[in-house]
Amino acid sequence: MEETRRKAYLTAMGVTVWQRRDPPAAAVPEVIVSETESLPAPERTAGESAAVETAATAPMAESATDDQWSDLRARVSACSACSLRAGCTQAVFGVGNAQADLLIIGEAPGADEDRQGEPFVGPAGQLLNAMLLAMGFRREEVFIANILKCRPPNNRDPKPDEALQCEPFLRQQIALIQPKVILSVGRISAHNLLKTDIPVGRLRGRIHNFGESATPLVVTYHPAYLLRSPEQKAKSWQDLQLALSLLREQ
Ligand code: URA
Repeated sequence: MEETRRKAYLTAMGVTVWQRRDPPAAAVPEVIVSETESLPAPERTAGESAAVETAATAPMAESATDDQWSDLRARVSACSACSLRAGCTQAVFGVGNAQADLLIIGEAPGADEDRQGEPFVGPAGQLLNAMLLAMGFRREEVFIANILKCRPPNNRDPKPDEALQCEPFLRQQIALIQPKVILSVGRISAHNLLKTDIPVGRLRGRIHNFGESATPLVVTYHPAYLLRSPEQKAKSWQDLQLALSLLREQ
């Protein structure tokens, strides 16, 4: 993406952009965001390198058919496995490019999403859109889904059994999309995907793997948290850059 546009989107995201006045030749990044230190070399979680090699050398699977998508959509919309469906307007399936390289996974629909039937359409969604644009993606080029398809009452945290009931749907979406990289936004997303309770601050900034396909997964802060704590946006931008570097590797 053209550098001026990227800077405009970073500004929209609320990230301060610092430009070196006298960049020494080559190796130095052109744009340094908010912090003068460069990105630490990303860590991979245990056993990961082997898994990544497997994914990279695996034969290309066939892409999902429309029938598989409509079947999954119908099952999501008919689901009443937990009590949430009875209290929400509609199940929010997910939206975007069914063959996206990048899959964003959030927590659960909020009031706006419940009303409109689409994830991340409220204020957090506006920031997510700006984050994606800063990465060089329009919203419709990625796929956006949540841990839960149905809105919990008063936006309370998903209960573990609700997340478990909903998990097969998300796993099927991942299997159909076959993303190159998963970006997990926020605590609920990261904890459910990685089956851990390590704080997001310690999960971010490194490369995890998800599922049998060992899809590279990057954790970052939830856009709603970033709206409350804008000083964390620079770290989030580092995470987005890490996800971008993984996309380029694939
Ligand atoms: N927050 C989420 O995690 N998901 C949404 O769809 C909206 C807000």
